[in-house]
Amino acid sequence: MSKENYSVSIDIGSDKIVCLIGKKGETEELNIVGIGVRESKGIKSGGIKDLEIVSRDIREAVKEAETMAIVDVEEAVVSISGTHLQSLNSVGTINVTGKEKITEEEIQKLMNQAKNLPIPTDREILYMFPQEYTLDSQDGIINPIGMMGNKLDIKVHIVTALSAAVHNLTTAVNKAGVEIKAFIPSFIAAAETVLNDDEKELGVGMLDFGEGTIDFAFYERGSIWSSMVLPMGGYYFTNDIAIGLMTTMSEAKKIKKKYGSVVLGDGDHGNAIPVTTNKEDNKKKNIPMDLLVDILRPRAEEMLMMIRDNLERIGILNKMNAGLVLTGGTANLKGLDEVAESVFGLPARIGKPSKGIEGLLDRVKYPEFSVAVGLLFFSLRQLEEVKVSKKKSFWSKIKNLFESF
Ligand SMILES: Nc1ncnc2c1ncn2[C@@H]1O[C@H](COP(=O)(O)OP(=O)(O)OP(=O)(O)O)[C@@H](O)[C@H]1O
Ligand SMILES: [Mg+2]
Repeated sequence: MSKENYSVSIDIGSDKIVCLIGKKGETEELNIVGIGVRESKGIKSGGIKDLEIVSRDIREAVKEAETMAIVDVEEAVVSISGTHLQSLNSVGTINVTGKEKITEEEIQKLMNQAKNLPIPTDREILYMFPQEYTLDSQDGIINPIGMMGNKLDIKVHIVTALSAAVHNLTTAVNKAGVEIKAFIPSFIAAAETVLNDDEKELGVGMLDFGEGTIDFAFYERGSIWSSMVLPMGGYYFTNDIAIGLMTTMSEAKKIKKKYGSVVLGDGDHGNAIPVTTNKEDNKKKNIPMDLLVDILRPRAEEMLMMIRDNLERIGILNKMNAGLVLTGGTANLKGLDEVAESVFGLPARIGKPSKGIEGLLDRVKYPEFSVAVGLLFFSLRQLEEVKVSKKKSFWSKIKNLFESF
């Protein structure tokens, strides 16, 4: 087993599956040394529709990353999404009177208290994120270890998942030959890389706009307070283009990626886009850019308005003092931040991995890699190193073979 500080992430999305291998060296930077990307053919809206296919796609993505990094992956941190994820906030309280100082043991007791909830039998707690501690009357404590007091409270954000969905995802990853170090909700991973500390402190909403899901997270005072997964995404835009321009889904996707925009740029007016239509023997037809924007913009507004109304209803909209950060592949749609600004009446920006990375930065500096990169950071900051072994040489494989007799 290598002693080097490796972390491996697998982001299982509805559009693509990504495996990244990161290495923590002498510097603060995370060195990304391996990447594997495969089109995801077995996931819909974050959920598995064909386990065998998902497993195959994971295996291929991992293999590609392994070959590049020259290591064998044994264990990885894996993203989880889908509308089956639910979240809630909870509290725990314990008495620490007479204790000389608060230790790790008390924190564990507190966490156990906080998760003592009536969770439906078909669900399980996926992860608990501490928000803040209160020691007697002092609130906003980030880490009470070593302190003294009488009554210690913890506030936590709990994410639960359908046990069957977790089980199936586990099977798919294990069948691909990889053990799971931890499942991390996609929104936590994306936030880890696209949000900065100031935004997290002031109050910020993050939208990970994927193919089949939009994952939302709200951070304030440095912690996550609200999250949800909505069954919407880039798929709708592809569908609208296919119907509106009378073309195939694959041609629609190509057009979306190449020309997709929800605002008409200065030079765009009257510009023509070549489209192969379903009609007229697959002939190329020139479509005005204005028409593409007319198809895409109302859909973007509709989705963003639904999210805005949702956030208003749960009382979060007016807490987003630092605005909105958009990430995920669909955030590549030109002008999506502009439309979000007008719908939300808040500043919006596009978030993508950029800081603290070396190595394959050029491959991952796009919004669709926020989750995969965020998983690596989360793993390095919050979890122990994961297991990888140096690619075995021919002789060491022979040696292992003999040792196993
Ligand atoms: N340049 C682009 N312009 C517009 N849309 C794009 C572009 N690049 C990718 N997309 C769209 O982004 C979506 C994929 O985003 P992403 O890779 O974040 O999704 P995913 O993680 O695989 O899926 P999900 O999170 O929904 O399960 C697809 O709808 C894809 O067509
Ligand atoms: Mg995703």
